[in-house]
Amino acid sequence: MHKVVAWSKRRGFIYPGSDIYGGLANSWDYGPLGVEIKRNICNEWWKRFVRDREDMVGMDGALIMNPRVWEASGHVEGFNDPLVEDKKTHERYRLDHLLEDAGVKNAEAMSLQEMSEKIKELKLKSPKGNELTEPKMFNLMFETYLGPVKNEENKVYLRPETAQAMFVNFKNIINTTRQRVPFGIAQTGKAFRNEITTGNFIFRLREFEQMEIEYFVKEQDWEKQFEYWLKEMHLWLEHLGISKDKIHDLEVPKEELAHYSKRTVDIEYDYPFGKKELYGLAYRTDFDLKNHMEASGEDIRYTDTETGEKYVPHVIEPTFGVDRTILAVLLEAYNEEEVNTSTRASTELSRTSSAQGGDIRVVMKFPKWLSPVKVAVFPLLKKDEKLTKKAREIFENVRNTYAAEYDEGGAIGKRYRRHDEIGTPVCITVDHDTLEDDTVTMRDRDSMEQKRVKIEELKDELSKILNS
Ligand code: GAP
Repeated sequence: MHKVVAWSKRRGFIYPGSDIYGGLANSWDYGPLGVEIKRNICNEWWKRFVRDREDMVGMDGALIMNPRVWEASGHVEGFNDPLVEDKKTHERYRLDHLLEDAGVKNAEAMSLQEMSEKIKELKLKSPKGNELTEPKMFNLMFETYLGPVKNEENKVYLRPETAQAMFVNFKNIINTTRQRVPFGIAQTGKAFRNEITTGNFIFRLREFEQMEIEYFVKEQDWEKQFEYWLKEMHLWLEHLGISKDKIHDLEVPKEELAHYSKRTVDIEYDYPFGKKELYGLAYRTDFDLKNHMEASGEDIRYTDTETGEKYVPHVIEPTFGVDRTILAVLLEAYNEEEVNTSTRASTELSRTSSAQGGDIRVVMKFPKWLSPVKVAVFPLLKKDEKLTKKAREIFENVRNTYAAEYDEGGAIGKRYRRHDEIGTPVCITVDHDTLEDDTVTMRDRDSMEQKRVKIEELKDELSKILNS
């Protein structure tokens, strides 16, 4: 994990937030390459789950919604975590996590009273070894005020999930599209939670991004649809290049279900710090639509066009955290490989040596569609104007279709290494032969194999490799 964190900063993927001011508790900024990965993930998700399907529509709701939304959804009342404080250092901790670390099972499902008794029974101390305060519930929603007057009337919340905008717009969408049950609404965007403890890099953040689907079904179909979406989520993980053996479905016990859910499966990933939730799939019943209908007084029932029946649809919710996806993708892609002389191209140099004296290369083996840069174009020598002119020509041509970089700095071997480190699938080198026979060297990131390709066939070759 520490290697991936260091690599992320070094290679311009993820920086500590507000870095020059010493950072801000677990806030991170995506750099030039990180934002490309993030966009590739969100765009691919959108294409797969919205554009390529006839039963899905997208939307993009406001971050700040009418606070009555959060009353109706149960978040004002129930979106709480149990908090304790170290009496000496005044550091705050999530009590269910402390109890689980002390071997207590299902701590999340315990009442405040039960947790308080457990503290006494186990003589539980803070991680610093000090006495703990009595636990209390802490609401995770960030509060702010609309307009210049900071009073209760103007209090609003930053959304803790993207989901609610999709429920609140259900009627609008039914009235303005031709969608009929079963169908889904999708949204991607930021969510905010004032988590008591954060950590593990971009795993638990206070500001993070979600990609969510609310899929509306007839009540009797919920089980079938739940199974269908579970499979879809696994296929998406496969597409991301995540190893199957690192993914586990956790059937959330009844006592631990969120206030809106009748069944939830957490899809967990083997992070280096343990098996933790990556995504979730929940059967939200008709909880949200019903509550919004009651609280707003608006009839948001759906009318079956064939039977004329009016009813409130039930909801299957597949939810995907973007930052947790990126963390899993980086961990999967990060490889250190010993490069022996038989596999290393003669022009390739290395900067690091293994314990056995071989060369080590860091290579990010992203699925090709995910790589931030798809093609790098190099002139063999920076000082040879004929080579740089030709390389620039090829670069300008390629970048119309693919995210490409022109790179003329340093020895060619170093340039290969630099692009291995950011996961560029193809490097193209223009050398003196190019000027004679209009061919270039094409080098593959994973095998490091090089072959000569005619410039006129370059686009076809790239399309074969990058769309495979
Ligand atoms: N609408 C349902 C919902 O929000 P959730 O399990 O609370 O469900 C959905 O969150 C997903 O959002 C999680 O599976 C996870 O990927 C991501 N997520 C939740 N809290 C997060 C946090 N503090 N930091 C980063 N990602 C988070």
